[in-house]
Amino acid sequence: MNQRHNALRALAAAVALAFVASPALAQEKVKVGFMLPYTGTFAALGNAITNGFKLAIAEQGGKLGGRDIDYVTVDDESDPAKAPENVNKLIKRDNVDVIVGTVHSGVAMAMAKAAKDNNALLLIPNAGQDEITGPLCAPNIIRTSFSNSSPGYAMGKVAADRGYKTVVTLAWKYAAGDQSVGGFKEAFEKGGGKVVKELSLPFPTVEFQPFLTEIASIKPDAVYVFFAGGGAVKLVKDYDAAGLRKTIPLLGPGFLTDGTLEAQGASAEGLLTTLHYADELDNPKNNAFRAAYKKAYNVEPDVYAMQGYDTGQLLAAGTKAVGGDMKKRDALIKAMQTAKIDSPRGPFSLSKANNPVQDIYLRQVVNKQNKAIGIAIKGYADPAVGCKM
Ligand code: PHB
Repeated sequence: MNQRHNALRALAAAVALAFVASPALAQEKVKVGFMLPYTGTFAALGNAITNGFKLAIAEQGGKLGGRDIDYVTVDDESDPAKAPENVNKLIKRDNVDVIVGTVHSGVAMAMAKAAKDNNALLLIPNAGQDEITGPLCAPNIIRTSFSNSSPGYAMGKVAADRGYKTVVTLAWKYAAGDQSVGGFKEAFEKGGGKVVKELSLPFPTVEFQPFLTEIASIKPDAVYVFFAGGGAVKLVKDYDAAGLRKTIPLLGPGFLTDGTLEAQGASAEGLLTTLHYADELDNPKNNAFRAAYKKAYNVEPDVYAMQGYDTGQLLAAGTKAVGGDMKKRDALIKAMQTAKIDSPRGPFSLSKANNPVQDIYLRQVVNKQNKAIGIAIKGYADPAVGCKM
């Protein structure tokens, strides 16, 4: 009897020790689903976001709220037609705790709808679709980037302040292009300018020649464009090759020259853009971030890398507050909404619509860098029309 009792005690002790020695056994991992473009014109953007996110996690010892992480990755190809199926894979097949994505506004729209329908947690590290932090806003959808109209609005103000009177716009015909141009036009015309022609072409096509010919014949004071990634590289080079760079200033949101300067070369020198980030912002966090990113990936970070990094930082703050227990959803969201994120862009907070309130810089390309030459709008808050939480 005594012997049996001792054996049982020894067994119980061994079991207890096994749990103490490997607490992970008792804890679920945090399952993160990336839905981003890894092919197509925005592939570099998706990769930069992923790298930035993973850098932030590495700085947390590779964990979230003290827990190990499982990653699931879907290439959304920036294709809105495939978006509902792709996001449902993450929600229903993979049962992820949080979705991180995406770049393209049309794809993000489908993701936001699915997140609402299924009460899934969605963190948006780029796509600016205005409605997502407007009428479609929800507590479980948080954006760490910008809304499409915001950088455009800032540039409209800059263009009017510079005394330009007439502008032609050229953009991809989808939400990001339309809303970027809309923001520009609103501020530019409020400041006394006039958008005399709005030109567009389907995403992601890059047959710019006929439009450049038309711009040359209209001779506006300036041109405002929305392009990003591979399309931005080609537009800037074509604009220069057409001989327009020196005669008609080319303006845009900073996506025009972010992550693209190596490929654009001399064609981008001197261009003015507006964005919530610039390469050489001299704050300790940006300096540390840029050095760490360069060391980890051997390339310079861009705005997309920074947004991915801040998405990682935000999720780290949220999960820390709940000890990695993703079922404590309300506390997790609250912690993210109130987190003070030390961002390379400078301080920002989240609005009631879960969109960053942040400075928008005026930048100029100098020696292959997007250099901040001023602040176009301080503490810009998207109007978030129609958002009721
Ligand atoms: C968007 O589709 O919302 C979008 C894509 C690329 C950018 C910015 C916005 O650089």
